Amino acid sequence: MKKKISDLIKKKNKQNIVSLTAYSKNIASILDNFCDIILVGDSLGSVLYNYKSTKEVSLDIMIEHSKSVRMGIKKALMVVDMPHNTYRNSKEALHNAKKIMSKTKCDAVKLEGGKKVCEIIKNLIKNKIPVMGHLGLLPQSDKTFTFKGKKKPERDRILKDSHLLEKAGVFSIVLECVETSLAKLVTQNIKIPTIGIGSSKYCNGQILVFDDLIGLNPMNYRFVKKYANLKNEISKAVSNYSKEVRKNKFPNKKNSY
Ligand code: KIV
Repeated sequence: MKKKISDLIKKKNKQNIVSLTAYSKNIASILDNFCDIILVGDSLGSVLYNYKSTKEVSLDIMIEHSKSVRMGIKKALMVVDMPHNTYRNSKEALHNAKKIMSKTKCDAVKLEGGKKVCEIIKNLIKNKIPVMGHLGLLPQSDKTFTFKGKKKPERDRILKDSHLLEKAGVFSIVLECVETSLAKLVTQNIKIPTIGIGSSKYCNGQILVFDDLIGLNPMNYRFVKKYANLKNEISKAVSNYSKEVRKNKFPNKKNSY
């Protein structure tokens, strides 16, 4: 059965929310059996395109990958990241969010930031576009890729921003690389679910970049657990294939017409 945003909110403090990123149909169709949310994250810029930052990701790239992901999802909520420079003001955000929603048939969009984007978010929600928030480390604008919540002003700002986003009407907030006690405080102080990435077990759910989880990313981030080493599995399969082709063992009779 197709999941609803209202059901997701009801899960808060009852059942942890499971989310992962996907950038294509085949992967999305596997994740769909296990995830509450599938995010087409702008992390695809670094994961797939080797961009230095998510700032280089375009709306068109997000839309094309999202169209592919849509074909793989039957049950999970599908959220699409609005890329950098596509929501600088309410008018631009509404135009681009409408385009994402209509072309990809996703369930919601995700925007990075707190106070600065609150009016933009309110306008999207007024226009019936569900929005997910994103606080803590904000890859589209951050210069220092370190965890957030070391100092009091930063902690106060993140907590305040979480209240502002809740008031603006977001249905959930991603907390990226937020210090444990702050992630716990934010989670306890708002009624909507928090989804953590590098933000401790105290969030109401977790999200990871799928390629990190299956060991395709050679980097070892503290917040990632590699649940499989598909790099080795793929290498083995391709190595066997190449040996068989070179020895003229593939294709055999069974693989031929
Ligand atoms: O772009 C992305 O994949 C994200 C997740 C890391 C939350 O925003």
